[in-house]
Amino acid sequence: MAVADKQRIDYSEFSGDTYRYAKAVIHKESCIACHGDPAKAPVDVLTRYGNERGFGFKTGDVAGVISVTLPKRSVFERTFSLINAAEMTVIFLSILPMLWFIRRAIILPIREITHAADEISRGKDVHVDVTDTVAGSKNEIHTLKIATARMRNSFIIALRKMREARSQTDKLKQHIANKDKSD
Ligand code: HEC
Repeated sequence: MAVADKQRIDYSEFSGDTYRYAKAVIHKESCIACHGDPAKAPVDVLTRYGNERGFGFKTGDVAGVISVTLPKRSVFERTFSLINAAEMTVIFLSILPMLWFIRRAIILPIREITHAADEISRGKDVHVDVTDTVAGSKNEIHTLKIATARMRNSFIIALRKMREARSQTDKLKQHIANKDKSD
Protein backbone atom coordinates (compact mmCIF):
# COMPACT_ATOMS: atom_id res chain seq x y z
CA MET A 1 0.00 0.00 0.00
CA ALA A 2 1.41 3.37 -1.01
CA VAL A 3 1.90 5.96 1.67
CA ALA A 4 0.92 9.30 0.20
CA ASP A 5 2.70 11.50 2.69
CA LYS A 6 6.41 10.87 2.27
CA GLN A 7 7.21 12.90 5.39
CA ARG A 8 5.10 10.67 7.59
CA ILE A 9 7.08 8.84 10.23
CA ASP A 10 4.44 6.35 11.29
CA TYR A 11 1.66 4.40 9.67
CA SER A 12 -1.26 2.25 10.80
CA GLU A 13 -3.97 0.18 9.17
CA PHE A 14 -6.78 -2.21 9.97
CA SER A 15 -6.94 -5.14 7.64
CA GLY A 16 -9.11 -8.16 8.15
CA ASP A 17 -8.75 -9.24 11.76
CA THR A 18 -5.52 -7.39 12.44
CA TYR A 19 -4.27 -3.97 13.33
CA ARG A 20 -0.84 -2.98 12.10
CA TYR A 21 1.32 -0.16 13.29
CA ALA A 22 4.66 0.73 11.72
CA LYS A 23 7.14 3.43 12.50
CA ALA A 24 10.31 4.51 10.75
CA VAL A 25 13.54 4.48 12.72
CA ILE A 26 15.56 7.56 11.83
CA HIS A 27 19.30 7.83 12.23
CA LYS A 28 20.28 10.39 14.82
CA GLU A 29 23.62 12.09 15.32
CA SER A 30 24.59 9.43 17.91
CA CYS A 31 23.92 6.58 15.46
CA ILE A 32 26.29 7.91 12.83
CA ALA A 33 29.37 7.03 14.91
CA CYS A 34 28.68 3.40 13.98
CA HIS A 35 26.51 3.72 10.87
CA GLY A 36 28.27 6.57 9.05
CA ASP A 37 31.72 6.35 7.57
CA PRO A 38 33.22 2.87 8.26
CA ALA A 39 36.63 4.53 8.68
CA LYS A 40 35.29 6.33 11.76
CA ALA A 41 33.38 3.35 13.21
CA PRO A 42 34.60 1.71 16.44
CA VAL A 43 37.23 -0.99 15.88
CA ASP A 44 35.31 -3.71 17.72
CA VAL A 45 32.24 -3.09 15.52
CA LEU A 46 34.44 -3.42 12.40
CA THR A 47 36.19 -6.59 13.61
CA ARG A 48 32.92 -8.23 14.51
CA TYR A 49 30.68 -7.04 11.65
CA GLY A 50 33.09 -5.98 8.88
CA ASN A 51 33.01 -2.64 7.04
CA GLU A 52 30.48 -3.35 4.30
CA ARG A 53 26.93 -3.38 5.62
CA GLY A 54 25.06 -0.87 7.74
CA PHE A 55 27.33 2.08 6.92
CA GLY A 56 27.04 5.22 4.82
CA PHE A 57 24.06 6.74 6.65
CA LYS A 58 23.61 10.42 7.47
CA THR A 59 21.59 11.99 10.27
CA GLY A 60 17.91 11.93 9.24
CA ASP A 61 18.21 8.89 6.97
CA VAL A 62 15.71 6.12 7.47
CA ALA A 63 17.55 3.32 9.26
CA GLY A 64 14.70 0.83 9.21
CA VAL A 65 11.06 0.25 10.05
CA ILE A 66 9.58 -1.31 13.15
CA SER A 67 6.22 -2.91 12.48
CA VAL A 68 3.82 -4.49 14.99
CA THR A 69 0.72 -6.47 14.08
CA LEU A 70 -1.97 -7.12 16.70
CA PRO A 71 -5.16 -9.16 16.56
CA LYS A 72 -8.15 -6.79 16.44
CA ARG A 73 -10.22 -8.63 19.04
CA SER A 74 -10.53 -6.73 22.28
CA VAL A 75 -8.93 -7.80 25.51
CA PHE A 76 -12.45 -8.33 26.91
CA GLU A 77 -13.38 -10.67 24.09
CA ARG A 78 -10.18 -12.60 24.50
CA THR A 79 -10.62 -12.99 28.26
CA PHE A 80 -14.07 -14.44 27.68
CA SER A 81 -12.81 -16.77 25.03
CA LEU A 82 -10.21 -17.98 27.56
CA ILE A 83 -12.73 -18.57 30.35
CA ASN A 84 -16.09 -19.98 29.37
CA ALA A 85 -19.30 -19.89 31.39
CA ALA A 86 -18.73 -23.32 32.93
CA GLU A 87 -15.26 -22.38 34.15
CA MET A 88 -16.58 -19.12 35.52
CA THR A 89 -19.23 -21.05 37.48
CA VAL A 90 -16.53 -23.32 38.87
CA ILE A 91 -14.46 -20.32 40.00
CA PHE A 92 -17.52 -18.72 41.58
CA LEU A 93 -18.53 -21.94 43.32
CA SER A 94 -15.04 -22.40 44.73
CA ILE A 95 -15.19 -18.92 46.25
CA LEU A 96 -18.46 -19.68 48.07
CA PRO A 97 -17.02 -22.14 50.66
CA MET A 98 -14.29 -19.58 51.36
CA LEU A 99 -16.89 -16.90 52.06
CA TRP A 100 -18.85 -19.34 54.18
CA PHE A 101 -15.71 -20.19 56.18
CA ILE A 102 -14.82 -16.52 56.72
CA ARG A 103 -18.35 -15.87 57.94
CA ARG A 104 -18.41 -18.82 60.32
CA ALA A 105 -14.86 -18.61 61.63
CA ILE A 106 -14.42 -14.85 61.82
CA ILE A 107 -17.47 -12.68 61.27
CA LEU A 108 -20.03 -14.49 63.44
CA PRO A 109 -17.71 -15.00 66.48
CA ILE A 110 -16.58 -11.36 66.33
CA ARG A 111 -20.19 -10.24 66.10
CA GLU A 112 -21.01 -12.32 69.20
CA ILE A 113 -18.05 -10.91 71.16
CA THR A 114 -18.85 -7.35 70.08
CA HIS A 115 -22.42 -7.80 71.31
CA ALA A 116 -21.21 -9.19 74.66
CA ALA A 117 -18.67 -6.38 75.16
CA ASP A 118 -21.37 -3.84 74.34
CA GLU A 119 -23.78 -5.32 76.90
CA ILE A 120 -21.04 -5.55 79.56
CA SER A 121 -20.12 -1.91 78.99
CA ARG A 122 -23.73 -0.99 79.76
CA GLY A 123 -23.57 -2.88 83.06
CA LYS A 124 -25.68 -5.79 81.84
CA ASP A 125 -24.69 -9.29 82.81
CA VAL A 126 -24.20 -11.44 79.72
CA HIS A 127 -22.89 -14.93 79.58
CA VAL A 128 -19.72 -15.30 77.49
CA ASP A 129 -19.44 -18.91 76.50
CA VAL A 130 -15.80 -20.03 76.52
CA THR A 131 -16.44 -23.77 76.54
CA ASP A 132 -15.19 -24.08 72.95
CA THR A 133 -11.90 -22.29 73.68
CA VAL A 134 -8.63 -23.54 75.10
CA ALA A 135 -6.60 -21.40 77.51
CA GLY A 136 -3.37 -20.21 75.91
CA SER A 137 -4.81 -20.78 72.46
CA LYS A 138 -3.05 -19.09 69.52
CA ASN A 139 -6.43 -18.40 67.95
CA GLU A 140 -6.98 -14.62 68.13
CA ILE A 141 -10.74 -14.94 68.30
CA HIS A 142 -10.53 -17.42 71.18
CA THR A 143 -8.10 -15.09 72.97
CA LEU A 144 -10.50 -12.20 72.45
CA LYS A 145 -13.38 -14.27 73.77
CA ILE A 146 -11.46 -15.36 76.88
CA ALA A 147 -10.39 -11.76 77.51
CA THR A 148 -14.00 -10.59 77.17
CA ALA A 149 -15.17 -13.27 79.60
CA ARG A 150 -12.45 -12.24 82.06
CA MET A 151 -13.40 -8.60 81.65
CA ARG A 152 -17.01 -9.49 82.40
CA ASN A 153 -16.00 -11.33 85.60
CA SER A 154 -13.77 -8.49 86.79
CA PHE A 155 -16.53 -6.04 86.05
CA ILE A 156 -19.08 -8.03 88.03
CA ILE A 157 -16.71 -8.35 91.00
CA ALA A 158 -16.01 -4.61 90.87
CA LEU A 159 -19.73 -3.85 90.73
CA ARG A 160 -20.45 -6.16 93.66
CA LYS A 161 -17.70 -4.51 95.74
CA MET A 162 -19.05 -1.11 94.86
CA ARG A 163 -22.59 -2.09 95.90
CA GLU A 164 -21.26 -3.53 99.18
CA ALA A 165 -19.34 -0.36 99.89
CA ARG A 166 -22.38 1.73 99.12
CA SER A 167 -24.69 -0.28 101.40
CA GLN A 168 -22.08 -0.03 104.15
CA THR A 169 -21.92 3.75 103.74
CA ASP A 170 -25.70 3.89 103.79
CA LYS A 171 -25.80 1.86 107.00
CA LEU A 172 -23.19 4.15 108.56
CA LYS A 173 -25.16 7.24 107.56
CA GLN A 174 -28.33 5.72 109.03
CA HIS A 175 -26.49 4.91 112.22
CA ILE A 176 -25.17 8.46 112.55
CA ALA A 177 -28.62 9.91 111.83
CA ASN A 178 -30.20 7.69 114.49
CA LYS A 179 -27.53 8.66 116.97
CA ASP A 180 -28.07 12.38 116.25
CA LYS A 181 -31.81 11.92 116.94
CA SER A 182 -31.26 10.06 120.19
CA ASP A 183 -28.76 12.67 121.43
C1 HEC B 1 28.00 1.34 19.12
C2 HEC B 1 27.74 1.28 17.71
C3 HEC B 1 26.31 1.50 17.25
C4 HEC B 1 25.50 2.57 17.48
C5 HEC B 1 25.81 3.83 18.30
C6 HEC B 1 24.26 2.32 16.78
N1 HEC B 1 24.31 1.11 16.15
FE1 HEC B 1 22.87 0.30 14.99
N2 HEC B 1 23.97 -1.36 14.75
C7 HEC B 1 25.26 -1.54 15.22
C8 HEC B 1 25.68 -2.89 14.91
C9 HEC B 1 27.03 -3.50 15.31
C10 HEC B 1 24.63 -3.51 14.23
C11 HEC B 1 24.56 -4.90 13.66
C12 HEC B 1 23.98 -5.82 14.77
C13 HEC B 1 23.66 -7.21 14.32
O1 HEC B 1 23.54 -7.49 13.13
O2 HEC B 1 23.51 -8.03 15.24
C14 HEC B 1 23.57 -2.51 14.12
C15 HEC B 1 22.35 -2.72 13.49
C16 HEC B 1 21.41 -1.76 13.29
C17 HEC B 1 20.22 -1.92 12.50
C18 HEC B 1 19.83 -3.16 11.74
C19 HEC B 1 20.40 -3.10 10.38
C20 HEC B 1 20.05 -4.30 9.53
O3 HEC B 1 20.15 -4.16 8.32
O4 HEC B 1 19.72 -5.34 10.09
C21 HEC B 1 19.55 -0.74 12.55
C22 HEC B 1 18.20 -0.44 11.87
C23 HEC B 1 20.28 0.15 13.40
N3 HEC B 1 21.42 -0.48 13.83
C24 HEC B 1 19.90 1.43 13.68
C25 HEC B 1 20.57 2.24 14.59
C26 HEC B 1 20.04 3.51 15.07
C27 HEC B 1 18.74 4.16 14.60
C28 HEC B 1 20.95 3.99 15.96
C29 HEC B 1 20.86 5.26 16.76
C30 HEC B 1 19.65 5.43 17.57
C31 HEC B 1 22.05 3.02 16.03
N4 HEC B 1 21.77 1.97 15.20
C32 HEC B 1 23.17 3.18 16.81
C33 HEC B 1 26.00 -0.62 15.93
C34 HEC B 1 25.55 0.58 16.39
